[in-house]
Amino acid sequence: MKTIDQYNFAGKKALVRVDFNVPLDAEYRITDDTRIRAAVPTIQKILADGGAVILMSHLGRPKTGPEEKYSLKHLVNRLEQEFNTTVLFAEDCVGPQAVQLAAELQPGQILLLENLRFHKAEEKGDADFAKELATLGDVYVNDAFGTAHREHASTAVIARYFPKDKVMGYVMTAELENARRVLGNAERPYTAIMGGAKISDKILIIEKLMDRVDNLLIGGGMSYTFVKADGGEIGSSLVEEDKIDLAKRLIAMAREKGVNLMIPVDSVIADAFSNDANVDTCLSHHIKPLWMGLDIGPTAREMYADVIRNSKTILWNGPMGVFEMSNFSVGTEAVADAVVDATRMGAYSLIGGGDSAAAVNKFGYADRVSYVSTGGGALLEYMEGKTLPGVAAIERDDY
Ligand code: 3PG
Ligand code: MG
Repeated sequence: MKTIDQYNFAGKKALVRVDFNVPLDAEYRITDDTRIRAAVPTIQKILADGGAVILMSHLGRPKTGPEEKYSLKHLVNRLEQEFNTTVLFAEDCVGPQAVQLAAELQPGQILLLENLRFHKAEEKGDADFAKELATLGDVYVNDAFGTAHREHASTAVIARYFPKDKVMGYVMTAELENARRVLGNAERPYTAIMGGAKISDKILIIEKLMDRVDNLLIGGGMSYTFVKADGGEIGSSLVEEDKIDLAKRLIAMAREKGVNLMIPVDSVIADAFSNDANVDTCLSHHIKPLWMGLDIGPTAREMYADVIRNSKTILWNGPMGVFEMSNFSVGTEAVADAVVDATRMGAYSLIGGGDSAAAVNKFGYADRVSYVSTGGGALLEYMEGKTLPGVAAIERDDY
């Protein structure tokens, strides 16, 4: 397998799969451009070699075809500003206009294709659709780590049309390298911080981590399924009733394996899911009826920060509370603070997952942690030990 540095793009049209699935507000402004910034070095390398770049991506999960809010044309300005050049746009990722724009593309130029998922064939991994896309370029570059867990036409199937001319971009290589750092012989103490709304998304990774970590800190909405499993009264907090037995098993498993599994001892609670709700603090095991836990409490904050500051390897996935609302962002910020401190003292810290990455960006800490992953599901699946189709398609000659 060639690396991107070994590949000379001079005179070539590079078909680059990026993950430009970025959040847009109601006016279609990009609210977090991390994934765009991440892809810049790969694009620049191709242009600097004397190649042309054809960018392809999905955006959101369109249901049946084109939808304004999922159009990639909203990214054209941002890209033009980044590369200080005109960015051409094809209103359909396949078909006559895309073919013509690609054919006329000159070295140094950038063409962006419209959302791949406007065609159902993309998610189906349709070979004919992949082949149509493939005709647009001379070389395939996959830099879409965030989508590497999907076996779609543009992320995997397309690679078979470029048996000798397929490479990973810099994002992909860096992501894999960083993920491997927390998978292999990670330095101890090793602390995993798992947050977010649902246990169901995190079961496999939590089980895997039990064999590796010293500390497992639980936060976010999923805490309350653990609290209930532990016999607590959680009021109207979020709970996955069908996961209570599982939470019990995870608690027992931690005890068996000597893992310090921590559930927030106290919580910031509210009488409605709103930043304007009445707010109070209480023990997580004694939440009043009709009130709900929306953040870890002050004691949990201190306990978690203490464990984090004494760690040498840190993996963080998922916020500690509803950090988008200022009244419930303190726990997530305290954890971010502690991760930054630990990193300054020499720890390795990997921030994974859309929401924890967004939180770290929001607090302005992105360059004070070791690595912020652009992948949510992809990173988790990789860490669970699954093969990522987007990676296999490049690495394997027989894909
Ligand atoms: C993501 O943001 O999770 C990736 O871009 C993949 O998107 P998907 O979950 O809709 O496949
Ligand atoms: Mg996803």
